[in-house]
Amino acid sequence: MAITLNVNGVERRVDAPADEPLLYVLRDWLGLTGAKYGCGEGHCGACTVIIEGEAVRSCQTRAGYLGPRRIRTIESLADGDRLHPVQQAFLAEEALQCGYCTPGMIMAAVALLGSNSSPSRPEIARAMQRNVCRCGTYPRIVAAVERAATSTRPTAVQGAAR
Ligand code: FES
Ligand code: FES
Repeated sequence: MAITLNVNGVERRVDAPADEPLLYVLRDWLGLTGAKYGCGEGHCGACTVIIEGEAVRSCQTRAGYLGPRRIRTIESLADGDRLHPVQQAFLAEEALQCGYCTPGMIMAAVALLGSNSSPSRPEIARAMQRNVCRCGTYPRIVAAVERAATSTRPTAVQGAAR
């Protein structure tokens, strides 16, 4: 069956079963490998993408039922060589070790800043708490989200709303 998806502002058609997880469609059909397979069960957040402004676990989302809803993946964040403010903040704070959780963390942070441009530390912790980092970089991740929110607030919010 052909599925039509709106991914990063572009309409994409894939010949995949309707109940195929969005994560597989993104990675295997569309070559968008930024979202990662972690647990495959909705627990880790490595597969997080943004759908209509909300952080969503793509491993638990059936691609064939999304209709025209706007899907945003981490590949959409940078503008050429210019990183998104949240990406810049993660680098500045060295908020990663192996980096496996990082795309999901960044997408969760972008979604948070899209709905709350100056989150408090507890709000950041709450928004990110379902994303797992096996390397334990949580304090740096929180610092990175704070940096993105405070140092480049207007740009970060614009970026989140894109
Ligand atoms: S791979 Fe989707 S939540 Fe873990
Ligand atoms: S940086 Fe390794 S899992 Fe988070």
